[in-house]
Amino acid sequence: MQITAILQKCHDLLGQFFDFLRDFYVQMQSVHVDHLERKWINITLLIIGMMVVIITIDAFLHNINPPSKVETIDSARLHLSKEFAESNLGVQLDDKGAIVVRMVAGRYSFFPKHISVPAETKLTFRWVSMDVLHGVHIPMTNMSTMIVPGYVAEITTSFPKPGEYPVLCNEYCGLGHNHMWSNISVIAKEDWKAPSDILASKELSHE
Ligand code: CUA
Repeated sequence: MQITAILQKCHDLLGQFFDFLRDFYVQMQSVHVDHLERKWINITLLIIGMMVVIITIDAFLHNINPPSKVETIDSARLHLSKEFAESNLGVQLDDKGAIVVRMVAGRYSFFPKHISVPAETKLTFRWVSMDVLHGVHIPMTNMSTMIVPGYVAEITTSFPKPGEYPVLCNEYCGLGHNHMWSNISVIAKEDWKAPSDILASKELSHE
């Protein structure tokens, strides 16, 4: 019922749009435009069209979503949520072997305080706030986002070189705002061990 109404509406809008284009074309024909000028108009339109096509293809290939992609979470009950329970924070491998890092921002730190990740590897960070609005910025990467209470902020990034990277809060969140930071150790790809491997080697050394 609703779908037919929406389809009808789309049909009407498209009809109006094509009517507009036809009228526009007819009017354009009656205006004298110099041959050379017409050529340049066409070139300009072609370039604009090409850019729109490139942006569209790029968005599809890199899975770029508009900010309207929202994922909500109850910030007051993070410790009870499955995903952001304390034991589930930090670096983890998902079932496809991709690295997912879950971190909680709260006055005045990022938790866990310290994590290790491999360099030159795609990492998906999932951030949530447990109290107020925070921001997260990691210099030398594309990581810069707001962490709005009630929402999950997801960013995919990679660290180009091994080293120590600071994680800074860049939204004023209270008196301790300028002390709100933590750090990430980025380890050469071949030296990095997945958290499950570390656990396994610890168990081995206990034997
Ligand atoms: Cu958290 Cu500023």
